[in-house]
Amino acid sequence: MTERRAVNNLSLYKERFERVLSDYLQAYPVKFSPVWDAMVYAVCAGGKRVRPALAYMGAKIAGGSMERADKVALGVEFIHNYSLIHDDLPCMDDDDLRRGRPTVHKAFGEGTAVLAGDALLNLAFECVGGEGETAKYIAKQSGMCGMAGGQCLDLANTGNAGVQGEEWLDKINSLKTSALFKAALAGGAMICGADGELICALEEYADCLGKVFQIVDDILDVQSSAEVLGKSAGQDEKNGKVTYVSLLGLDGAKQKARAINDEGKAALEKFGAAAGELIDFADLLLGRVK
Ligand code: IPE
Ligand code: IPE
Ligand code: MG
Ligand code: MG
Ligand code: MG
Repeated sequence: MTERRAVNNLSLYKERFERVLSDYLQAYPVKFSPVWDAMVYAVCAGGKRVRPALAYMGAKIAGGSMERADKVALGVEFIHNYSLIHDDLPCMDDDDLRRGRPTVHKAFGEGTAVLAGDALLNLAFECVGGEGETAKYIAKQSGMCGMAGGQCLDLANTGNAGVQGEEWLDKINSLKTSALFKAALAGGAMICGADGELICALEEYADCLGKVFQIVDDILDVQSSAEVLGKSAGQDEKNGKVTYVSLLGLDGAKQKARAINDEGKAALEKFGAAAGELIDFADLLLGRVK
């Protein structure tokens, strides 16, 4: 029942986001091809839209409207897509397939892919730049203290199997993945005027949610297939990445994900029924692996 509610809510948020995105892109005044084409190719490829959903849930728990959070949803999804374009480049994970289609550098060439990533980051701040505190927060979570910093540590992870332990891996996952979850969820709440207590709890929850999401992604990389994932499987082993799967095995990684998920849900306990949707959402994302 609660799983059905989370699935329904996610599809409602996704529907809204696709509409907002399409309107935004259509109204955008200057369109230089091929960089613009590459940006649209990346962003309109049908991702799960987990981060926009988090922005809307952040607005809701803060008592705000979804409309107020549209900018955060757009901004964070643009940043997420820029991070994936760069993540797939030959100098990073060297991936050919993303969301069932050739990666941006395969379709448009490396130079255009780099520029499309850069331009998506700027586009994000064209959306949220006018929102002082929220814009600054999203910038911080995306940069050296967040996603980009985590991706930098992840580069050092390549070919380093077994040298580093769980604490180090936790740090990487928290920066490269949880930081954008925080930007979306706490950013959505912040733009609606949430108080400090709520923001702190949402950050704690989003930190756990992002870590669980990355562990699940790493498990699926081993357990699933390109047909199901829309991206190549077996990439982490190919690139010699340390993951919870390589450290603890599949069962150990699943156990770890469950424990972190419980920790994340506990951070929201004090908000009672208002947090029900986020609690169901955490279980839904964890449920991608059985
Ligand atoms: C992929 O993110 C990158 C990770 C943080 C694991 P998603 O799994 O959210 O990718 P899309 O947007 O749905 O394709
Ligand atoms: C990517 O993690 C995290 C980012 C910040 C982009 P992965 O490298 O595991 O993501 P996928 O598997 O390529 O989607
Ligand atoms: Mg990567
Ligand atoms: Mg990758
Ligand atoms: Mg992965």
